[in-house]
Amino acid sequence: MQVLREAIAQHQQRFYGVSYNCDTEVLVTAGATEAIAGALLGLLEPGDEVIVFEPMYDSYQACIAMAGAVSVPILLEPPMYRPNMDALEAAITTRTKILLINSPHNPTGMLLTRDEQEHIARIAEQHNLIIVSDEVYEHLVFDGHRHVSIAEIPQVTGLKLPHLCKCGTISACNCSWSFNAR
Ligand SMILES: Cc1ncc(COP(=O)(O)O)c(C=O)c1O
Repeated sequence: MQVLREAIAQHQQRFYGVSYNCDTEVLVTAGATEAIAGALLGLLEPGDEVIVFEPMYDSYQACIAMAGAVSVPILLEPPMYRPNMDALEAAITTRTKILLINSPHNPTGMLLTRDEQEHIARIAEQHNLIIVSDEVYEHLVFDGHRHVSIAEIPQVTGLKLPHLCKCGTISACNCSWSFNAR
């Protein structure tokens, strides 16, 4: 639906100052799970490795397994559940293809800062990795904090960046969208 894709592109401009071509770069899916599955199944080959934050939304592992790929978890340690960038970088091997990040994070509520997202983007650029950024809870941010989208980080220009969003969900009536590789 053209009007929906236009509204989604306007949303990205309004909240993150990023412009997308609604005809060629916006894909509407039946829920974020479908968008995640499409991104992972489309990008992964058997044996590829995906670095993910642990704990995580459960469908990630199912999609990674369905692609014949391997998930490599990075533990978000309590009490703050922030990612350890040294551990993240140490987990990269020659088989690593995707960094799958999620902020605001389910289930911990951790919100990646701009500095952390810039750091992740630099690591991805150095190691030629694809960032898949699940931002479904982008509008569920409280106490004066602001969600930073990976799409706002200048270093990601030139990296493939499917990024997934969801808002206004009511049970059994999901509408999500993802953005084309950049
Ligand atoms: C982090 C995260 N990503 C994706 C999804 C899937 O969203 P959808 O219900 O739109 O498929 C969920 C659902 O709870 C989630 O928690």
